[in-house]
Amino acid sequence: MPVEAVGLSKHYGGVTALSDVDFELAPGEVHAVVGENGAGKSTLVKILSGVVRPDSGAISIDGTPVTFGSARDALTRGVALVAQELAVFPDLSVIENLFPLAPIRRGPLLSPRRMAALAAPVLDELGLHVPLGARAGTLPLADQQLLEIGRALLRRPAVLILDEPTSALQREAVDRLMSVLRRLVSRGVAVLYVSHFLEEVLRIATRVTVLRDGRVAMAGVSTSTVDLDGVVTAMLGSRTIERRPVTQRHTAGTAIAVKGLSVPGQLTDVSFTVAAGEIVGLAGLQDAGHLAVLAALSGRATPTGHVRINGASAPRSPRAAVRAGIAFVPSDRKRYGLMLDKPVWQNTSAVSWLGIGRATWWLRQQQLIDTAWQYGTRLSIRGAPTDLTGTLSGGNQQKVVMAKWLAAEPTVILLDDPTRGVDISARAEMHAVIAELAAAGKPVLLASTDLAELCELCDRVLVFQRGRLVSELPHTELSEQALSVAMNAGFGQR
Ligand SMILES: Nc1ncnc2c1ncn2[C@@H]1O[C@H](COP(=O)(O)OP(=O)(O)OP(=O)(O)O)[C@@H](O)[C@H]1O
Ligand SMILES: [Mg+2]
Repeated sequence: MPVEAVGLSKHYGGVTALSDVDFELAPGEVHAVVGENGAGKSTLVKILSGVVRPDSGAISIDGTPVTFGSARDALTRGVALVAQELAVFPDLSVIENLFPLAPIRRGPLLSPRRMAALAAPVLDELGLHVPLGARAGTLPLADQQLLEIGRALLRRPAVLILDEPTSALQREAVDRLMSVLRRLVSRGVAVLYVSHFLEEVLRIATRVTVLRDGRVAMAGVSTSTVDLDGVVTAMLGSRTIERRPVTQRHTAGTAIAVKGLSVPGQLTDVSFTVAAGEIVGLAGLQDAGHLAVLAALSGRATPTGHVRINGASAPRSPRAAVRAGIAFVPSDRKRYGLMLDKPVWQNTSAVSWLGIGRATWWLRQQQLIDTAWQYGTRLSIRGAPTDLTGTLSGGNQQKVVMAKWLAAEPTVILLDDPTRGVDISARAEMHAVIAELAAAGKPVLLASTDLAELCELCDRVLVFQRGRLVSELPHTELSEQALSVAMNAGFGQR
């Protein structure tokens, strides 16, 4: 057994993140760890990879007890982590990110040419085709995710830990990652895999462990003897997912009209309309242009062409978009979404705050906290309004981004992977909220790498390729298969 952990516990102040958890990981297996947001998954993998020290418990590797003082310690023992919150160095180049300074193994420093030669096959296998000299911070989120995976693979770990590695990836990239993992496993590497995509988990993993409220709810069960329902039941315990009836919606009048919209280098001559109360999906492979639409409508890109949003022209800045009541929920919460060093309530009230003016905001602090709590409860954010946002688990942070916009009562909703890293019950709740916003007559544009999400929510989906709008699928024709075909049509098999 390369990794065996016994009785791991971790507390943060009054919060029990992990309580008396046993866990084992064998060579040549993919062992998945699943659970709701805040269940303790990231805490477990951080302990196993030396990032966080447990309050109690013991870890052994190949039968030898170890205590990791740092992530470097763990790396020298062959344990590599791809963390949930991306940690690429934005100002360093791709190659510098792949070979960070202070090499783990002693030996002569690698020459740039040697580094490039080592990196090439790994990046190729992951399908990451970017210039090695490009600044990592300029890459799209999905490429940054692949870059981190590449960095871990280059360490040739005996134990590879992946915490939500596919949350920003397109299906094609996910498939590629799966074959990389299968190959590693066949060579005897032990893989610990954390994900909210439960179907994906059951496909790739040999065993699955479920955490609930920091405890083991299902311990290392073979995936051949458990199904999706069994896993979900273990995750939720006595709780159940509320399946709300789909809200009846009536669309009326054009709320968003776009004609001949272009963004240099990203989008060419795109025209469409969105009615009030309509949920329109945006789909495409990476750089297909669908995200440029959201950027243009939320003041983050300067488009040419004709845009009317509720009768007004396109906002010229993110600030102007906020003032116009245009909500933009980003997938990259670290970059656009949140102040991690501020309490939750300050984040959830950040937008509404702009509306009431600086002079009086403190008078209404209690009200702002109450609003934060209200939406926090609705989305079941695990944490208090006064907690620092950075201490919340990844999925709970994403819920805060959503809550912030709900509190601001926007009139136009633009969403980019709003449920990234969010667990299945919160996902269902967010979907209900989105449907309610539409039912209240708001136009919604939804981009998602999660094709099931597009199928569940959208009245129709616009499909983009190479900066152009190439097709439109009405609700009756929506399926993951149909979407995938439309997104890839004309690209041929690779
Ligand atoms: N540095 C910290 N300070 C305070 N509390 C923390 C800290 N890190 C984690 N926690 C708390 O520990 C609990 C478990 O968090 P963890 O990140 O392990 O959850 P998770 O299962 O990975 O959730 P997610 O699916 O959202 O990523 C949460 O309640 C979280 O708020
Ligand atoms: Mg986590």
